[in-house]
Amino acid sequence: MLFRNFVIFIAVVVSGIFSQEIFEDLKHEECLLDIDLIILLDGSHSVKLSNFNIVKEWVKQLAAGMHIGHGHIQIGVVQYSHWYHNRPLNNQRYIKTEIELGEHMNKDDFDRAVDRIKYQGFKTYTAHAINKTLEFDFLGPKNRYPDAKRALILLTDGKATDSSYLPDVIQHAERDRGVIIYAVGVGDFDSSELQLITHHHENREFELENFEDLDSIVNSLQFQLATACDCDLEGSITEDCNPCSGECT
Ligand SMILES: *[C@@H]1O[C@H](CO)[C@@H](O)[C@H](O)[C@H]1NC(C)=O
Repeated sequence: MLFRNFVIFIAVVVSGIFSQEIFEDLKHEECLLDIDLIILLDGSHSVKLSNFNIVKEWVKQLAAGMHIGHGHIQIGVVQYSHWYHNRPLNNQRYIKTEIELGEHMNKDDFDRAVDRIKYQGFKTYTAHAINKTLEFDFLGPKNRYPDAKRALILLTDGKATDSSYLPDVIQHAERDRGVIIYAVGVGDFDSSELQLITHHHENREFELENFEDLDSIVNSLQFQLATACDCDLEGSITEDCNPCSGECT
């Protein structure tokens, strides 16, 4: 336990330094992209409570590097597991908006809100959960689209219960809502499903063996988000992009 805490401590320190560099490198704050980000968390039964708690720490760590206090990046958090077919999308108890987009612009408030999230523990209605973020969470009162980029980070540990809906929902996300989707699969995920969700952008897909490995992708996710660019209309993040002009080099 002590060792684990130590490892997490080191990881936090290292990622803190790294993400600071990203923002320092860009130098001028006006060069930072404005991003409306929703983090969509799988709260299905297979995740288990202890892992869900690791996920919550990871969300706080991810947010730490994004300096939400600057106002460039607004974050919302949604947890999903079940979907009731006879209820409208905005009345789904287990596709739950835990933190509204931009609700907390202060890191301490944000962290406390993450701590309060209660693990659900049902199924994996990924497609309906993504659709709910598109129809409601991204359209909340604080949404700044198209001035801000829209990004979704999906974290899942398994195959979607409603996978047949995924192609339509993913198309809807990109075509109608301008949402760039990153997918993080842990453990028993389905690789081809993650490829579908990220539209075959390898740099937006993360495959991990277990939840302890989440630490290892914080820097990469932050970097890719911070340097998201206009130059690739498919939404992929490339290094050929000038973060200030948003143009390809
Ligand atoms: C997404 O939600 C909208 C609004 O509720 C609905 O009209 C649409 O059919 C949904 N899409 C899918 C693929 O379920």
